[in-house]
Amino acid sequence: MKPPLLGVDYYPEHWPADRWATDARMMHAAGLSVVRIGEFAWAKMEPTEGRYDWRWLDEALEALAAEGLQVVLGTPTSTPPAWLIQKHPDILPVDAQGRRRNFGSRRHYCSNNATYHEYTRRIVTALAHRYGNHPAVIGWQLDNEFGCHDTARCYCENCAAAFRVWLKDKYSSLDALNAAWGAVFWSQSYTDWAQISPPNLTVTEANSSHVLDWYRFSSDSVVAYAQIQISILRQLAPDRFITTNFMGPFPDLDYYQLSAPLDFIAWNSYPTGYAEVTGPTLYMPDEPRPKLAYDVGDPYVTGFCHDLMRGLKDGLPYWVMEQQAGSINWANTNPGIRPGTVRLWTWHDLAAGADTVVYFRWRACLYAQEQYHSGLLRHDAAPDLGYREVLRMKDEQPLMRSIQGARVQVDVAILADYDDLWALDLQPHNHVIAYWRHLFAYHRALVRAGVPTDVVSKQADLSRYKLVIAPSLLLADDVWAARLTAYVKAGGTLVLGVRSGFKTPSNLVTDQPLPGPFRELVGATVEAWHSLPPGVTYPLTDHKHQMLTAAIWAEGLSTQSAQPLMFYTGGPLEGQAAVTVKVVGQGRAVYAGVWPDEAVLNSLISWLLPQAGVQPLALLPEGVLVSRRGSFVFLFNFTDAPATAWLNVTSAVDAFTGQSIERAAAIAARDVRVLSLGADSR
Ligand code: GAL
Ligand code: ZN
Repeated sequence: MKPPLLGVDYYPEHWPADRWATDARMMHAAGLSVVRIGEFAWAKMEPTEGRYDWRWLDEALEALAAEGLQVVLGTPTSTPPAWLIQKHPDILPVDAQGRRRNFGSRRHYCSNNATYHEYTRRIVTALAHRYGNHPAVIGWQLDNEFGCHDTARCYCENCAAAFRVWLKDKYSSLDALNAAWGAVFWSQSYTDWAQISPPNLTVTEANSSHVLDWYRFSSDSVVAYAQIQISILRQLAPDRFITTNFMGPFPDLDYYQLSAPLDFIAWNSYPTGYAEVTGPTLYMPDEPRPKLAYDVGDPYVTGFCHDLMRGLKDGLPYWVMEQQAGSINWANTNPGIRPGTVRLWTWHDLAAGADTVVYFRWRACLYAQEQYHSGLLRHDAAPDLGYREVLRMKDEQPLMRSIQGARVQVDVAILADYDDLWALDLQPHNHVIAYWRHLFAYHRALVRAGVPTDVVSKQADLSRYKLVIAPSLLLADDVWAARLTAYVKAGGTLVLGVRSGFKTPSNLVTDQPLPGPFRELVGATVEAWHSLPPGVTYPLTDHKHQMLTAAIWAEGLSTQSAQPLMFYTGGPLEGQAAVTVKVVGQGRAVYAGVWPDEAVLNSLISWLLPQAGVQPLALLPEGVLVSRRGSFVFLFNFTDAPATAWLNVTSAVDAFTGQSIERAAAIAARDVRVLSLGADSR
């Protein structure tokens, strides 16, 4: 599956046909080898119902193939055409306010609409018949950004009916459902399945178990909708790959389930957009931001996305299907990009585990919603910065190819789970507490400490990790406790964060002392939990007698078979433990009962790493990142000043210059160094 390496997202339908050959020639000249097309072109493929027009697409494919370019074909289902919506307006989704959303942008469909399923089957079948064995077509992208623009959850009558079917299937009886939801509360007990609705437009907050099931059902609906397309493509284009484009820490779909039937995952990386829009949801509101170059985005945010996306399929190499290649149009300030930045992002993608990087988009568009979005070419077709960057990387492609296929090497994992995310974010209790924010805090602390970190499903095989951190294992039962206990007994180091084991899988609070099913494993009991308002902190001390503080959330622990690692030295929890450790079998289980700020994290991590036998790859200044893939180590400087990293690897050679590397490796501003460790260190 390796060959394509750099590519571009192309919309031939936006340009006159006599331009396509020139575009293809320029793509080839820049060293691009793969082109994604078609994902929004339904109205061009089927201008009126049942009348297909393949001529333009045949010709576009010809033009690309003539230059040796390979093609990923998108199924156009995120844009049902006007004639279809006019004929079947009930395809349009309904928002949480009960309003039907309009035609006129994209993603305007309900995943549970049977009519839409039928039209989906028809267009996907027609496309697969026509192009499934086309020599230039190497694979498929399903739809585009499932769930984007708040479309993962539709509140129409169809969805309400499908929800009832889903619930019947899950619970069999209303007694079971009423018990699982605690429906006795506020007289919510149901006596007829028809009484159950989606949990929108309730007078005040809806029942948290009801909402959690609604989120699960909605996610399942999208996964089932994707499967309709997958089944057709598997049958009609059996030896072509199938992927779709994911969106980093997008919270509305269970990405583990959506990725399961795909050959590999792809995601869309817009570093400046993510820094501006997602960054504020990941950092604490008042947290000082790293000093970075203004046009590189935030590599801690981009890196978190990469690690989360790589974990969707357990570390398998993936694609970046849309890589920002200039300025974008949808964030707050959309900074202009300087030379070097696109190359930096490209290498960051490769270092993180991507095998192919596809730039968005070929040429800036003259009309409609994305007029201010750059492409590799400008509006006037002159090469823009992105094109020049791609040209510049031509010489670097042989090195890039020698990295493809290898696994990223990581000793530490953070566990993620969408049920936990949904349940926590539904009732955060303290408004700055948020699921991804909690994971990001641990992730960033490790990355800054020079320790590359995976983010993986809690179902993943944990035995390959020396250290596993589960910041928020909120919904738990004895099965999870047994799995994690086995990991620890076999020698692993496990950290459970605040509120772990608080709830059952159906989102009821456990009737056991906290942390519920994990109490035996951690050997400590949560006696009290306090949410702390702004400005209130409880003093803490750690194993080195450093003075620290707990802010946001503090749990007071009594120890049964654990040792305190941090304890409160004042405030209402004085004398109780805040963080504990228990040796279990060959490993150890840590319970971290405080929301971790930077100082607490640094203390905890500096204690954990040697305990778990994890060696940082390098000592890094802020804004400098390190990772290891196969036999290469990558150093990135995302700041505007030269920087030095202190390496913990011996006998490395600079893969660009062939010079051997000193322990102190200098990295120019906004630059990357690729270090080859030699075959024996693989
Ligand atoms: C992506 C989307 C693309 C395009 C791009 C603009 O989220 O998949 O179609 O809209 O954003 O940055
Ligand atoms: Zn619907």
